[in-house]
Amino acid sequence: ETSGGKDGASRNIAETLEESNKNCIIFYGSQTGTAEDYASRLAKEGKSRFGLETMVADLEDFDFDSLDCVPSDKVVMFVLATYGEGEPTDNAVEFFEFINGEDVQFTQGADVPLGNLNYVGFGLGNNTYEHYNLMIRAVDKALQRHGATRIGEAGEGDDGAGTMEEDFLAWKDPMWAALAEKMGLGEREAVYEPIFSLTPSDTLTVDSPEVYLGEPNKTMLEGTSKGPYNAHNPYVAPIAESHELFTVKDRNCLHIEVDISGSNLSYQTGDHLAVWPTNAGAEVDRFLSVLGLTEKRNTVLNVKALDPTAKVPFPAPTTYDAIVRYHMEICGPVSRQFLATIAAFAPDEATKAEMAKLGGDRDYFHEKVNARHLNIAGVLEFVGKGKKWSNIPFSAFVEGITKLQPRYYSISSSSLVQPKKISITAVVESQVISGRTDAFHGVATNYLFALKQKQNGDPNPSVFGQTYEIMGPRNKYDGIHVPVHVRHSNFRLPSDPSKPIICIGPGTGVAPFRAFLQERAKQATDGENVGETLLFFGCRRSTEDFLYKNEWDEYKKAMGDKFELITAFSRDGPKKVYVQHRLQERAEQVNKLLEDKAYIYVCGDAANMAREVNSVLAQILASQRNITVAKGEEVIKNMRATSQYQEDVWS
Ligand code: FAD
Ligand code: 2AM
Repeated sequence: ETSGGKDGASRNIAETLEESNKNCIIFYGSQTGTAEDYASRLAKEGKSRFGLETMVADLEDFDFDSLDCVPSDKVVMFVLATYGEGEPTDNAVEFFEFINGEDVQFTQGADVPLGNLNYVGFGLGNNTYEHYNLMIRAVDKALQRHGATRIGEAGEGDDGAGTMEEDFLAWKDPMWAALAEKMGLGEREAVYEPIFSLTPSDTLTVDSPEVYLGEPNKTMLEGTSKGPYNAHNPYVAPIAESHELFTVKDRNCLHIEVDISGSNLSYQTGDHLAVWPTNAGAEVDRFLSVLGLTEKRNTVLNVKALDPTAKVPFPAPTTYDAIVRYHMEICGPVSRQFLATIAAFAPDEATKAEMAKLGGDRDYFHEKVNARHLNIAGVLEFVGKGKKWSNIPFSAFVEGITKLQPRYYSISSSSLVQPKKISITAVVESQVISGRTDAFHGVATNYLFALKQKQNGDPNPSVFGQTYEIMGPRNKYDGIHVPVHVRHSNFRLPSDPSKPIICIGPGTGVAPFRAFLQERAKQATDGENVGETLLFFGCRRSTEDFLYKNEWDEYKKAMGDKFELITAFSRDGPKKVYVQHRLQERAEQVNKLLEDKAYIYVCGDAANMAREVNSVLAQILASQRNITVAKGEEVIKNMRATSQYQEDVWS
C-alpha cells in the first residue's frame, strides 16, 4: 500500500475520515470540472442543511482497498463523469481498475468486504455517446457486488440532452431525504458558511514579488520549473505559427502551432492538446464591477481554507483580478442552485425575491438565463438592474463557480513529421443569440484568436471589442506563449501503414485526419507501402470553409492513387449534402474496404453527425452484405470493440 499521498496525507479513506472528524467523503471523477463542482455543492449542502461533516476528495489521492474500513455511521459519495467512449476520467482510472477488477482485495479480507459501506452515487454522462454513464453504472454494480448499501438512486445526468444541472437537482433532494433517514440527520435551514477566508494583506502590495498575479505556471516563469507538464502543471509554449483557415469575413478558424522543443513534452498522432485560457478583459471588468470590486481589484488577499480538508484552488497571496481572470469560469453556464444561495445577499428585498425566483423556478430560469447564455455577471446585472452586489462574500464565488478549465483540441499534426511542433485547428466560437443584443463568445477560442493577432504583430489585440491581458502583467517572455499540456488518446492509425483507412471528418472534425494524411504522405515519400486512404470531408461551401484546401493536393502528390478526398459541400447546391450522403454513394467501395480490414475513423460533432454516420454505415453493411440493419449495427459494435472503428467526437 502506498502512503503519503498529496502533501504527505494518508491515502487510507477510513483513517482520513477519522483524523479529520468527518463522516462524509465525496469523491469526484472529473475531466472538465463539472463533477468536481457537483461534489463541492453536495459537500456544502450536506453541511449546511444536514450538519454532516463533509469533505471533498480527488479519487487520485486515495487507496481504495481501505473502503472496507469505513464504518457504517459514515457515508461515501461518488460523483463520476464518464469520458468519451465510456472511459473513466484521468483521475479515476486507478479507482475504476481497482473496483471493477476481477480479483479485488480489500484490507480486511472479509467475505462480504463492503457490508458496512453506505454510499451515494451520481454520474455525469452524455447520451449521444455509445456508453452512456458507464462509470456510475459499473461502479454502482461493483460496490453492490461487494455488499455495499446504496442510499437513494444512482443518479444520471445527461449532457447530451442539455439537462445535466436539472438532472442533478432533481436527483439530490430524494437522495438527501433517504440519507437523512438512514443516518438519523435532522434538517435545518441552510445558511451560507464560507470554506475559504480571503482577507486583505496589511503588508503586501500588488508589486510585492511574492504576490501571484496569474502567471500561468509561476515557477516556470521564474525559471525553476521542470516537467512533468500535465493537467496540474501546464507548459507555457511559444506559438510558432498561427493563421486563418476560412476565407469568409464573419467566421474564423485558426490553425495554431505551438513549439514544445523547450520541454520534455511529447505527443503521438491522434492525441489532444489542452489549452489553458484566460478570460476576456471586458468580462473580468464586468464581473468585478457588478460586485463593487473595481476599485479593489488589485487588493492583495491572503487566502486560507477554513476547513483543513479543503484546498485553496489557486496560488496565494493574490488579487481579485488574478483570481477572476485566470481561475474562474466566469463566462460559463450559471447554476440555478448557486443563484438560490446568493439570493440572501441581494442589495434589496425586491432583488432578493427575483433572484430566489430564478433559483427556484426551473422554467423561468431557463427562459431568462440559460436560453440567453447569460453568465453570472450578466445575471447579477439583469436582476440587480444596475445595483452592486457588494454583500456577497467573495468566498461564495470561489466555492460556487467552476475553476477555469483547459479546453481540448484534436492535434492536427503528425508526430512523425513534426515531433516538437503541435498544431491544432479551432473554430472561433461566436453565436448570435435571440434575447440579447451582444453576441456570445467562447472563452478559449477567442483568447486564441487574440493570441493569433498578437503573434501576427498586433501588440494590443482586441477581438470583438474584448481585450486580453495575456498571461499576466509579469509576462517576461518576448513573443507569444500559451499554456498547454498533452492528453494522450486511443485514437490511433493502424501500426501497419499498409492497412487501408476510411476517415470521416466534417468541419474541424478533419483536424486529426490532417495529421493522419501528413503522416501517410511522409511514409509514402519514404518509400513505405501505404494503404488506401479515403477522407470524407464536409463544409458549407468550397470557397469559404474548405479547411486545408491546398494541402490535400500535396498529399495526393505524395500518395498518388492511394489517397482520395471526397467532399460534401452542404450549402453549394440546392440541397444539403453531408459526409454520410457521400458515404452512402460509396457503399460498395466502403464495404469492400471494411472487408479488407480497413480502419474507420469518425471525428467531430458527437450530437448528430457521428450518430448519423454510424447509422448510415449500418445500412451500408446491411444492403451490401444482405443482412439486417440490426445485424449491421452489431458488426459495427464489434468493430468498435476491436478498435477497427474509432471515434474522436465532442459536443
Ligand atoms: P466555451 O466558452 O467553452 O463555450 C462552449 C459552449 O458552452 C457554448 O457554445 C455554449 O453552448 C456553452 N456555454 C458556454 N457558456 C455558456 C453560458 N453562459 N450559458 C449557456 N451556455 C454556455 N474544437 C475545435 O474547434 N477543434 C478541435 O479539434 C476540437 N477537438 C476537441 C476534442 C475533444 C476531445 C473535445 C472534448 C473537444 C474538442 N473541441 C474542438 C471543442 C473545444 O474543446 C471547445 O469546446 C471549443 O473550442 C469551445 O471552447 P470555448 O472556450 O471557445 O467556448
Ligand atoms: P450545414 O451547417 O450546412 O448544415 C461542417 O460544419 C459541415 O458539417 C457543414 O457543412 C455542416 O452543414 C455539416 N453538418 C451539419 N449537420 C450535420 C450532420 N448532422 N451530419 C453531417 N454533417 C453535418
